[in-house]
Amino acid sequence: MIGGTGLENLSLKDYHTETVPTPYGEVQVNCGWLGEGQEAIAFMSRHGKTHAIPPHLVNYRANIWALKELGVSKILATAAVGSLSTRYKLGDLVLVEQFLDFTKSRPQTFYEGADSGVLHVDMTEPYCHSMQGDIHKAAEKLKVALKDGATYVCTEGPRFETPAEIKMYQMLGGELVGMTSVPEVVLAKELGMCYAAIAMVTNEAAGIANHPLTHAEVLESMKTMDKTVARLIEETFRTIRPEQDCRCGLANAEVGKF
Ligand code: HPA
Repeated sequence: MIGGTGLENLSLKDYHTETVPTPYGEVQVNCGWLGEGQEAIAFMSRHGKTHAIPPHLVNYRANIWALKELGVSKILATAAVGSLSTRYKLGDLVLVEQFLDFTKSRPQTFYEGADSGVLHVDMTEPYCHSMQGDIHKAAEKLKVALKDGATYVCTEGPRFETPAEIKMYQMLGGELVGMTSVPEVVLAKELGMCYAAIAMVTNEAAGIANHPLTHAEVLESMKTMDKTVARLIEETFRTIRPEQDCRCGLANAEVGKF
């Protein structure tokens, strides 16, 4: 589980913090259990426990590598987003389906040629449909409203967008905007892990809202959603199985075969 803004701490039972060395630096992961008698889960906070790491400086490769190292096969992530679309409203929980990548400075691959090989990873289905099915089932059981099908625009940040940029993203088909799903979802796929993102709409995007955007607004909105999301996550992990029944595990089968 990768917790985004507003979900820096998920209450795990009997957890211990593991420091996992990776080729990209050390990562701290809380390993424990969610609720009674459940599968072990590993939890990491994307921005650090106190939101000290801005989106463009998150060590995405170290984070994903560390989860792989711990034996994780499926990653459930949360992401605070602004909405560009009338389909997605403040307070909505939405499964992300596609992304448009407008990041600029982030390493996006583990495969840098030479010994590590080359991989042109398939992004036809970036977010795992099998996991999305499990999340939908959990939402139905809890009677939590959950939308899906959203195209997420990933910006470089850390600044918010201009209204002109938001208009451009709308023209391109963008519906939600955030700063972190890329390269996180790409790197998970490169290591053959399933990845699903629950986006939490914390604000209307710049220029749609008729007031300036602040991080405080994002945090304030999160407070109204975080308990519901925590329940949804817990219920999802109750049914989700570590075994992969999709194509995500095959995503890096082609490494170096060029
Ligand atoms: N833009 C970019 N990232 C965000 C936003 C936004 O409006 N809201 C939450 N994360």
